[in-house]
Amino acid sequence: MDTMVTRSGLDGVVVADTRLSEVDGERGRLVVAGHDIERLAGATSFEAVAALLWTGALPQGDAAEATRAVLAEGRVRAFAQLAEGELARHADGMDALRAATARLTAHDGFDAPARLTGAVAVYAAAWARARAGGRPLAPDPSLSHAADYLRMLTGEVPDPARVAALEAYLVTVVDHGMNASTFAARVVASTGSDPVSAIVAGIGALKGPLHGGAPGPVLDMLDAIGEPARAAPWIEAELAAGRRIMGMGHRIYRVRDPRAAVLEAALARLEQAGVANGRLALARAVERAAEGALRAKYPDRPLAANVEFYTAVLLDAVGLDRAAFSPTFAAGRVVGWCAHVAEQRATGRLIRPASRYVGPAPLA
Ligand code: COA
Repeated sequence: MDTMVTRSGLDGVVVADTRLSEVDGERGRLVVAGHDIERLAGATSFEAVAALLWTGALPQGDAAEATRAVLAEGRVRAFAQLAEGELARHADGMDALRAATARLTAHDGFDAPARLTGAVAVYAAAWARARAGGRPLAPDPSLSHAADYLRMLTGEVPDPARVAALEAYLVTVVDHGMNASTFAARVVASTGSDPVSAIVAGIGALKGPLHGGAPGPVLDMLDAIGEPARAAPWIEAELAAGRRIMGMGHRIYRVRDPRAAVLEAALARLEQAGVANGRLALARAVERAAEGALRAKYPDRPLAANVEFYTAVLLDAVGLDRAAFSPTFAAGRVVGWCAHVAEQRATGRLIRPASRYVGPAPLA
């Protein structure tokens, strides 16, 4: 294992070789299986990117259709195992997702990545429906994964502009190097455990606000600020109170997260299609104010917008309730988790990092 000492201590320990994605924090570049994220998001279907991560190549012709069919079957199978009562018990969508996914049998003879990707979409949508007082909707295998997710979640036939925006989002978050949830999933996979257990571990890690739980709070922040002119004083007051600005900063990026730009562009397209929520101008003003205030407070540590910042505004414009944001993140990231689980299992190697003992010496 290589090590790289950062200001946080022994961060950046290399625990795996991967062909799946690379994050260049200095230049703000994300490459997914040989493709810049800017080229994939908004231009390639979620199914095609799933196939890219699971097989190593973008599918052509019949292969693209086959991926769409296998994901649809994954949704149908997941729906058959849905325990409605279990979902409704949970106030938090990530808790519901964890519990529902954990009920899946470890082996049912069907393609594990498609089954798990189908399951996360179906359970996230069913939980959001239950929360709004509705019954879960069965998947429609004739629809694309993104369109069906939106339909199952909102109960409405989704319009193409919203589907395109959601699909761009799901593709944007599909994989991101050795982030915390991917690492959690890989650690479980490295023990020889099953893919369901690994994905449940990923869901648990993604739930936290320092990882996938930030977009809801970003929207709360925009609501609290209300108008662009109030952005700077509001941000200053938050920092003075010692609170973090949600959607800003990243452990790896030293420049703006490239996914923020991709999602900002998807949001602008949605506004052009006349479907957006009018929050783009406010979001841009808050981002500018936050970047400036953070630069003044931490001149040596660049802190810029991360993926969660525009996720919040985009998913809101798509028509999702903020409580469904983190489960929707999981609906995209599960594709990457599955790819990492397979890659890790193929090595047959246990991940066993070390800790540094700083406790008391034993009594003589
Ligand atoms: N708002 C205010 N201050 C922030 C900040 C933010 N969003 N992000 C980092 N800082 C501060 C830290 O508190 C630290 O200050 P200190 O030295 O006085 O304690 C300093 O900047 C350096 O932070 P650093 O150690 O480089 O950050 P990190 O790598 O530990 O944290 C995050 C990375 C993502 C956890 C952090 O930026 C954060 O909490 N962001 C908000 C939550 C969020 O958007 N999460 C989604 C991530 S994709």
